Amino acid sequence: MTDSASTDLFSLSERYYLPVYRPRRIVLDHGKDARVWDRDGREYVDFGAGIAVNALGHANPALVAALTEQAGKLWHTSNVFVSEPPLRLAEELVTASRFAQRVFFCNSGAEANEAAIKLARKWASSHGRTPDRRVILTFRGSFHGRTLAAVTAGAQPKYHEGFEPLPPGFRYSDFNDLAAAEAAMASGDVCAVLVEPVQGEGGMTPATPEFLLGLRALCDRHDALLMFDEIQCGMGRTGHLFAAHAYGITPDVVTLAKALGSGFPIGAMLVGEKAAESMQFGAHGTTFGGNPLAAAVARAALREINSPALLANVARQSLAIRDALAELDAELGLFSEIRGSGLMLGAQLREQHAGKAGAILDLCVEHGLLLLQAGPDVLRFVPALNISDADIGEGLQRLRSALRAFATA
Ligand SMILES: Cc1ncc(COP(=O)(O)O)c(C=O)c1O
Repeated sequence: MTDSASTDLFSLSERYYLPVYRPRRIVLDHGKDARVWDRDGREYVDFGAGIAVNALGHANPALVAALTEQAGKLWHTSNVFVSEPPLRLAEELVTASRFAQRVFFCNSGAEANEAAIKLARKWASSHGRTPDRRVILTFRGSFHGRTLAAVTAGAQPKYHEGFEPLPPGFRYSDFNDLAAAEAAMASGDVCAVLVEPVQGEGGMTPATPEFLLGLRALCDRHDALLMFDEIQCGMGRTGHLFAAHAYGITPDVVTLAKALGSGFPIGAMLVGEKAAESMQFGAHGTTFGGNPLAAAVARAALREINSPALLANVARQSLAIRDALAELDAELGLFSEIRGSGLMLGAQLREQHAGKAGAILDLCVEHGLLLLQAGPDVLRFVPALNISDADIGEGLQRLRSALRAFATA
């Protein structure tokens, strides 16, 4: 990076932040749709959307209008009082989900999963199950957030190391291996299965329909809750409002965050009939969850996302990215697999380029493209769901330049 306003500001992040992140060395200033500008006026096409959050791009007029209108009325009430935006949002999510009866609002994905974990335990306890029979089954490669219970649920040792003792009562099985899940549930002590229909952080890997259908059947057989973590793959990202709809499966619990507020922090746990009454007065709570400001934005986001034209755009732009990646692979031989669903795509780097995703992302920045990785070996494509043909085309052109520079370096 050249000396600039960005350089000066960036040094503050090194001075003051807990160094748990390693951000790219630019300072973003403003955005419009799928483009962002840094402090030095450099423009980027945004294929990362704040890690699959800005589903409607930057400065979306409907979201700005909802936010500013609510900002002049009422920001926060706490849950000691109710207000209209979160009540309406709950009603709209219940209807749109086609399965939920009740909603709990919170502020992030980890909190939504934390709520789901607590709900599963409470549900099991109210069915007379002793603590040793309240095991939650999750899958290797999954990511459910960074609170202690959520990070334990995410079966990734690299996120566990040094944080032991971890909370007990979790069991791990291989993703997309139904026989292994069946064995893991055989003793009847599993009270819930928590699964990402499309693994995000773990590598952009969709569950097979047989796997999820099989989990549904196993949960029915063993009287366990099927809980979908749709924090990354929900809210239109697969081309369906809910990933559960894409698979035609009815879960008992769905967790949402990221695109729910499309940039304004909000999370939610949606609960179906089986467990809707298991959390009663005093069982759980939050100060900020269901904040009217967040809910007003989320209502506007839900209206925009839940439209046939937007969901059709997801399918169309998904094909455009897949085609471009296949062409690039034919030219440069970089990828061993291109996978994912809708606008949640991953390109797995070949063995000889293992560990190079970060270097490629740096080159992308140099070529005016913001891209993400899912681990060290996978390029992650999660642009805004309403991204235009022009922005996709320009972003893919910049990706071509960056990957050509990588391949010839
Ligand atoms: C599938 C999934 N679950 C949970 C989370 C955690 O969400 P948050 O970072 O908002 O706590 C993430 C974040 O990447 C995620 O992708």
